[in-house]
Amino acid sequence: MRLVLLGAPGIGKGTQARRLQADYGWQVIATGDLLREAMANATPLGEQARAYVARGELVPDELVNQIVIERLQTLESQSSAGVPPALSFILDGYPRNLSQAQMLDTFLNERRQPLHAVLAFELDDEQIVQRLSGRRICPQCGAIYHIVANPSRRGEQCERCGATLITREDDQPDTIRRRLAVYRAQTEPLIAYYERQTGADGLPLLRRIDASGDPETVYQRVRNALFRDLLPPPASGGGSGRGV
Ligand code: AP5
Repeated sequence: MRLVLLGAPGIGKGTQARRLQADYGWQVIATGDLLREAMANATPLGEQARAYVARGELVPDELVNQIVIERLQTLESQSSAGVPPALSFILDGYPRNLSQAQMLDTFLNERRQPLHAVLAFELDDEQIVQRLSGRRICPQCGAIYHIVANPSRRGEQCERCGATLITREDDQPDTIRRRLAVYRAQTEPLIAYYERQTGADGLPLLRRIDASGDPETVYQRVRNALFRDLLPPPASGGGSGRGV
C-alpha cells in the first residue's frame, strides 16, 4: 500500500498512521517525527530545520525531500532475491506543498509505483486546536496521547516505555495559529491536485475522511475508505488501541 495522509496539523494523522502500521505493517514515514529526531540529535539537518519548526513554518523543500527520498530508497533497497519490492509506505505530513507533491510523483512514476490512495482528513479549526492543546507525546518512543481523549494509563508517564511525557514546543497557541495558516495556504491546495488523479488501481486517488469523533471511530472510517475498494480486513481484526 502506498498511502498519503493529508490534513491540518493536529487533525490526527499520526494517530491513524500508527494504527495502520500496527495492523498492516506498512512503514510510516512521518517527516515531522524525522525532523524532531534530527533536532534532538542536533544533526546538521536538525540544526537547519529548528528555526522553521519553532516558527510553525515549512522547512525548505530540499531538506525535506532529501529525508523522504532517503527513506524511500531504503525501502527500495530491501529487495528479495534481486527482485525490487513493491514499495509500501504511509507518508504522514508529506507532501506539504505542490513542489513536494511533484517530487514524490516523479520518484514513484519513474518506478511505475504510483500512490494507491490519499486520505484527506477534515475537521473544524476549533476541534483541531483542542486536540493540539491537549496533546502529550513520548520523547522516547513517539507515542501520542491526549489529556482528555486518549490519556496515558500511567499519568504523566508513557504507558509503553515509561518515559515522562512532554508537550511539543510547536503546540503553543501562537505557533498553532501559524501552522494552521501555513496549512491552509500551502498544503490544502493539494486536495484539488490529488482530486484530479487516479490511483494505482485505477480508482479515484483522493478519499475524504471525516476526522470528528474518537480515534476508533475515525479509524473505522479510514479502514472503510481503504477496504471499500482495496483491502481485506487485518487478520487480527480491530484497532490497535491506545497510546499509538
Ligand atoms: P508534523 O509533526 O508533521 O506536524 P503536523 O502536520 O502539524 O501534524 P501533527 O503531528 O501536529 O498532528 P497530527 O495530524 O499527526 O495529529 P496527532 O495524531 O498527533 O510537522 C511539524 C513541523 O515539521 C511542521 O510545522 C514543519 O515545520 C515541519 N515539517 C514536517 N513535515 C514537513 C514537510 N513535509 N515540509 C516542510 N516542513 C515540514 O493528534 C493530535 C492530538 O489529537 C493528539 O493529542 C491525539 O491524541 C489527539 N487525537 C487524535 N485523533 C483524535 C480523535 N479522533 N479524537 C480526539 N483526539 C484525537
